[in-house]
Amino acid sequence: MSLLEKAGLSMLHRLDPEAAHGASIRALQAGLAPAPGAFSTDRLKTQIAGIPLPNPIGLAAGYDKNAQALSALSRGGFGFIEVGAATPRPQPGNPRPRLFRLSEDRAAINRFGFNNDGMEVIATRLAKRPRGAVIGLNLGANKDSEDRAGDFARVLQRCGSLVDFATVNVSSPNTEKLRDLQGRDALSALLRGVMDTRDALASPIPIFLKIAPDLTPEDLADIAAVAQDTEVDAIIATNTTLNRDGLKSAFRDEAGGLSGQPLFERSTRILAQLSALTTIPLVGVGGVGSAEQAYAKIRAGASAVQLYTALVYGGLSLVSEIAKGLDRLLERDGFANVAEAVGTARQDWL
Ligand code: FNR
Repeated sequence: MSLLEKAGLSMLHRLDPEAAHGASIRALQAGLAPAPGAFSTDRLKTQIAGIPLPNPIGLAAGYDKNAQALSALSRGGFGFIEVGAATPRPQPGNPRPRLFRLSEDRAAINRFGFNNDGMEVIATRLAKRPRGAVIGLNLGANKDSEDRAGDFARVLQRCGSLVDFATVNVSSPNTEKLRDLQGRDALSALLRGVMDTRDALASPIPIFLKIAPDLTPEDLADIAAVAQDTEVDAIIATNTTLNRDGLKSAFRDEAGGLSGQPLFERSTRILAQLSALTTIPLVGVGGVGSAEQAYAKIRAGASAVQLYTALVYGGLSLVSEIAKGLDRLLERDGFANVAEAVGTARQDWL
């Protein structure tokens, strides 16, 4: 990290976390962030669900909820970017405070509740997206919707032609009863609706499904079966957790989803279990903050990874550091490319 980035981060950490988030988006828009472009080598080049990626390190959903910093993020080093969650209608989300920094734990707790500008405004921004970058959209449902399952299809229908993939997010803990949609029958109906909408797009895009880390082996087996039946193109494992084991920070009992370092092990175990259940490509998310951790997710079964919370502590330069470090680890262990390493240490996590 450069001295300038260090100074910027320490300034952000003196602000309330939500204000710091807003300031970081404005800093990106103003061009005040590292813009190295995506680091790539033949070893790092890969693909997920048929989408070619310069490297397998992605930005997780929830940072750029409203697609406001796409140009800067596309130059920030990521192999792919996921924006959103977008819901059909704009909504304010939960009352503040709703984002907490757990610095001693290198973690965060959020209970945002899908605050976003709504699909119309987000579609207008996506229409001006930078070309060349891989950009996906996280689909959400309005809190007060009478047809939450239908909301995912509505956002896909409006925005699907503007992105390279879309993610059905039924795993946020911050919209009451949303995760009930992960149950076998509800999920099956929801995904069928989304797939029909996808098939009707002029250029159909891959559909990803994002799951929670707080699932039993039976839940996971059901989800894998439904995903296989409905021909989901990739599964993202995982979203934030409700678990609070082993935390030291003062904010540990705040309600919401926990992300960052304490999530790494739990989310990697879920990823490995899922990889034993299905041949659908997987994206590993949860607590990635180093090249070693990105590599561990890949060897546990992920074809690509995403991160968010580690950026709060390590800045945007972390993305290129991880990509470069991952390239060295693959070379050290004699893998010709990312795909060769996928799942090679799954057993260690089961
Ligand atoms: C998130 N995450 C998230 N996920 C999602 O699918 N839709 C969303 O809108 C959001 N919003 C969101 C906001 C905030 C403030 C955080 C910290 C996280 C979850 C995120 O994409 C990721 O799955 C988890 O944070 C785990 O990864 P990290 O943060 O440990 O790298």
